[in-house]
Formats: sequence, structure tokens, C-alpha cells
Amino acid sequence: MPKDPFGREIDYLRISVIDRCNLRCVYCMPLRGLSFIPGPELLTCAEIVAVVKAAASVGFRKVRLTGGEPTLRADLLDIISGISSVQGIRDIGMTTNALLLPGMARELVAAGLSRINIHIDSLDPERLKRVMRFSHLDDMLAGIHAAEAAGLSPIKINAVVVRDYNDQDVVELAKLTLERSWHVRFIELMPLGGGPCAQLSLSQFVPSAESRRRIESALGPLVELPSSHASDESRNFRLEHGKGVLGFISPVSEPYCGDCNRMRLTADGKFHLCLLHDDEIDVKSALRNGGGVEKIRELLLKAVASKPTGHDLDKGVSTEVRSMFQIGG
Ligand code: 5AD
Ligand code: SF4
Repeated sequence: MPKDPFGREIDYLRISVIDRCNLRCVYCMPLRGLSFIPGPELLTCAEIVAVVKAAASVGFRKVRLTGGEPTLRADLLDIISGISSVQGIRDIGMTTNALLLPGMARELVAAGLSRINIHIDSLDPERLKRVMRFSHLDDMLAGIHAAEAAGLSPIKINAVVVRDYNDQDVVELAKLTLERSWHVRFIELMPLGGGPCAQLSLSQFVPSAESRRRIESALGPLVELPSSHASDESRNFRLEHGKGVLGFISPVSEPYCGDCNRMRLTADGKFHLCLLHDDEIDVKSALRNGGGVEKIRELLLKAVASKPTGHDLDKGVSTEVRSMFQIGG
């Protein structure tokens, strides 16, 4: 398994397959001024699978597909089945807004998808529309149920907490874990991209401790669960009598960079070394200039060796070049 200079074992590749999205969440995509990667600049299915093969050959074991919204990628099923046939890859996850899942959850599972994270920020349709701007609550809930019916387990629900938008909704979301074995996780806002989303992420920040207090005062004390992996970025709890898991992902108030196990690949073929820095290493040129597995492996190991120790949000440093929808979380 590749280790970086700080002794972190990097075995998890997050692949953004497309930067487009059918929603425009306030903290992720501005409404105007967007430009997307032109089709020919996106890594093809074969190129993505080639990178995964190189990654598996040096010890990567887990892959997650992200976006933008990965279900908008027309050849998503080919990508998943291509990755699932790579020897050594044990786990393929995907992060999605669930809108399109009713029509494709079964096929995704048949292609080899093993896990799903669904982001939904509120169970109130009007407040949901304020934060996830083009959303439809009923369609997203149908997507969640389709994922469950297709056998994806556990269902993980992610909500980003945004002050004055959905900070009060953490209680209703947390209640989902009373009846269901779902994992509901609350994510602290991160400022990416330097533009309006970054501004909003700074001004509307809510620390996890505040969301936790809100949940505990409405629903009773949370019982902490032991973490299953050091690299699980979520601190997990359950409600007394709850069936599911409540998690808090706190990159800002409790950074977990010391346990980072991730490398990221952007949809236009760059290894993105840390979510909250702009450092990248191009792999697409090598892929398109006939570089074989050996060359890709070399670039990937260089990327692992160049990972920053951690983020520098406390010094006011974040990405300026890429926003969240261009990296995939
Ligand atoms: N801060 C924290 N999380 C974010 N996401 C998108 N933008 C932000 C942000 N500014 C999350 C989404 C989704 C994943 C792609 O990243 O909720 O789960
Ligand atoms: Fe789309 Fe996800 Fe970004 Fe929302 S957070 S705009 S659903 S990519």
C-alpha cells in the first residue's frame, strides 16, 4: 500500500467523472458564471479504468465515484463495470444527489456498485429548495428508497449544515435514524473556489458541536460508537433506541488530515492532492501520449509523495482554482 512522507497509507481513490450537476446547491455551484469541462477533455471510461488499474497495482483498494453529479455521465454503468473488473478493487462507492436513482439503482448494483452516499440537506421541501436549489424532495426520497430496494447498504445520507438555511433541520434528519438503519451524517461547510460559494461557506458556517447540541436537546443524549477505521472521517453516534448511525464530519473544527487515506482524480484527468489545496499532477497527458500503466503508476506515486500534510483553512488558505463541483468532495 503506498505511504506518503507522513506515514499515511493512501489506498482510496475518489474519481470525479463529470463536473456538471442537475442541482445548484448554494455552497457548491453558483447560479451564474459556470463553465464546464468540454466533452473531449473529460477522461474517457477506458482512461478512468486505466488509472484504476495502475492504482490497484500499487495497493489502492477503494474507489468512490463523485461529480458534479455522477449519474449525469452517460457511460456511468460502463465505468462501474470496468472498475469492478479490476483485480484488487474491493469496494466501489458513489456520492449522488439521488434524483436519478429511481431509474438506475438496480443497474448500478448489477454493474458492481457496492455503496452509496446520498446528499440531502433538509426534509422540508421549501427549505430544501433554498439550499439545494433545483431539488424536488419527493424525487430525492424516491431515489433513496430505490437505492435501498436495490440492496445498497448501509444507506448513508449526508447533509451539509448551513446557517439560516437548514441548521434547524438537523433534528428531523437525525430522526431518520430512529426507525431506519441509515447513517445520517452532518458535514461542516468548507470554503472552496474563492467565489460566492466560498464566501457563503465562511459566513454561514455551523460547527458540528452546535448541530450536536441541537439534536441532543431535542432528541436526548447521543451514545458514541467506536470508529471502525482510523480513516473514517465521521465521528459516529446513535440515539438511544435508534436503529441507525448519526455522524459528524468536522473538517474545519476537528481536522482529520492526519488520517487521510485519499487521492483524488478530477474529471479532466488531474490527480488532486488534497481537497483543500490547488496542487495537482496531470495524468491525462500521459494517458493520451501513450503512457502505459507504468507511467501512470509513476505519476500516482509522485502524487502520493507530494500530498500536503493537511489543510490550512485556519490560515485562510483553500482552493482558488477549483470549486467543490470540480473536485467531488
Ligand atoms: N462544504 C462541505 N461539503 C460540501 N459538499 C459540497 N460542497 C460542500 C462544501 N462547500 C458536499 C456535498 C456532497 C459532496 C459532493 O460534498 O454535500 O456530499
Ligand atoms: Fe450538485 Fe452535489 Fe454540488 Fe449539490 S453538492 S450542486 S448536488 S454536485
